[in-house]
Amino acid sequence: MTTTRVVPVETLHRIVEIATRAPSVHNTQPWRWRGGSRTLELFADPTRQLAHTDPDGRNLLLSCGTALHHAQVAAGVLGWQSRVARHPDPDRPDLLACLDLSPGPPPATADETLAALERRCTDRRRFTAWPVPEERQAHLARIANHWGARAVALTDESERYIAERLVRRAHRLQWADPDARAEQAEWRDRGGEDGIPTDALPPGPDLVGGHRNRFQSAWDDRSAPDLEASDGLLVLFDTDDDPAAWLRAGEGLGAMWLSATTGGLALVPLSQVIEVPETRAAFRTEVLGSLAHPLLLVRVGWRSTARPAPVRTPRRPVSEVLELG
Ligand SMILES: Cc1cc2nc3c(=O)[nH]c(=O)nc-3n(C[C@H](O)[C@H](O)[C@H](O)COP(=O)(O)O)c2cc1C
Repeated sequence: MTTTRVVPVETLHRIVEIATRAPSVHNTQPWRWRGGSRTLELFADPTRQLAHTDPDGRNLLLSCGTALHHAQVAAGVLGWQSRVARHPDPDRPDLLACLDLSPGPPPATADETLAALERRCTDRRRFTAWPVPEERQAHLARIANHWGARAVALTDESERYIAERLVRRAHRLQWADPDARAEQAEWRDRGGEDGIPTDALPPGPDLVGGHRNRFQSAWDDRSAPDLEASDGLLVLFDTDDDPAAWLRAGEGLGAMWLSATTGGLALVPLSQVIEVPETRAAFRTEVLGSLAHPLLLVRVGWRSTARPAPVRTPRRPVSEVLELG
């Protein structure tokens, strides 16, 4: 008979600490964890959902998916392999995943991976002018696919043109919507533990109640486009547009972002084009040929090594998000 070892509380704590470094929409960190003797359960926290711009919870689940990815990688690095059951209880839709942990050898690249998890962040400053080779973009898409998500690089010029047009239209529509603007403002400069500090956004005119917009160039048509010709563009998509697909896409996003970080690339999500129903529908038909649902658009580019490190966003302490059962 084999016995499985109990996971030390400090290890559960450390896994969750690393998982909380995951990206989330507006840095809402919409997750909760419950640790057992050999398990970690991930719950969605609907109190942190963006009611106006994310009424379906798509971004909420994508965000939880990135944390789920980070938790699996963190566990591996710390010498624990995880078997994951996603949406294990149909009666509890907020229970997103259960990780069953058992001892396993850490990968040879553990230190490098740990450093990349710590270093990963949203660097919205301009990328360098070097284009991202198509093969590199395809590699990122394959990584997302490996994690059960679907992603494809938009390399065709007409696809990129349409995507860019829709991104700008989404910005304009959201900018014209006072509720969407109020929601953005609510998650900026909250101080301590969540939200986005203004200093993490690109410099530009103050737009909302003395704060910068999360896309400072988004306020009107005259502004510079958000996308440069040298930017790589990838879209996460799925044939389903439901919580299971969103969670998978989040795991793929986490994996893609970690790989980009390791390889010197910056990745920035462009979620507004999916948040606005009109542009989401247009993206589905005009870019994806109605074959699949777009879930998140991201741009990638080479980070300049000459600049100082970007401003980091805060996190809630582990004691707030982890309950030990
Ligand atoms: C689902 C999702 C959507 C996001 N959408 C945007 C976006 O539209 N624009 C943007 O600049 N950042 C976006 N972000 C990045 C978050 O703002 C960022 O992850 C969060 O503020 C935490 O900061 P960090 O990534 O630097 O740790 C998104 C992140 C996720 C996970």
